Amino acid sequence: ADFKVGYFVGSLAKGSINRKLAQALVRLAPAELQMQEIRFGDLPLYSYDYDADYPPVAREFKAAIADVDAVLFVTPEYNRSIPGGLKNAIDWASRPWGQNSFTRKPSAIIGTSPGAIGTAVGQQHLKSILGFCNSPMMNAVEAYIQFTPDLISDEGKVSVESTETFLRNYMSEFRDFIGRVLTVYPRSN
Ligand code: FNR
Repeated sequence: ADFKVGYFVGSLAKGSINRKLAQALVRLAPAELQMQEIRFGDLPLYSYDYDADYPPVAREFKAAIADVDAVLFVTPEYNRSIPGGLKNAIDWASRPWGQNSFTRKPSAIIGTSPGAIGTAVGQQHLKSILGFCNSPMMNAVEAYIQFTPDLISDEGKVSVESTETFLRNYMSEFRDFIGRVLTVYPRSN
């Protein structure tokens, strides 16, 4: 079966190493996965004052999540958590109350950092958030990628063969996970 995967790049930086990682994952994903980016950088800061009437940018954002079978978070760790922009986006998606975009939507988390911890601490925070949002998460394989200069090019070419193999396997595991979740929670739309 073919699945649509919406991916979030947690960083808004032009030179983001996590964007490079996302490019690599798009290249290495199995043919059954249709990868599309879900951008969130134009969302205003969320407040529940918007709940009665979401602005068009937020409606489009929620529609983009509704359109995909699964979501993939490719995110840096900022101050041992996730970047504020990504948390803001998740808050928008989780509301209005009763219209949480992530409920029963399968997800996976991956990230890269120059540091040896490789975003592990930030990923734990994101798991806690997505757990509350009722998203079934892929628990294994875990992926904490330590970025070294030139590991991945802007186009997503990986220079280290073992890393490329690891990332390709990560995406095929994610495909299998999505398939398992969708047998339990078939999509209604
Ligand atoms: C960082 N960085 C960082 N790295 C890390 O491993 N753990 C951390 O907690 C933090 N904290 C942090 C906070 C802020 C505000 C910045 C800007 C950076 C370093 C970070 O991993 C590095 O800048 C990466 O390049 C970030 O990924 P992107 O944004 O390039 O994808």
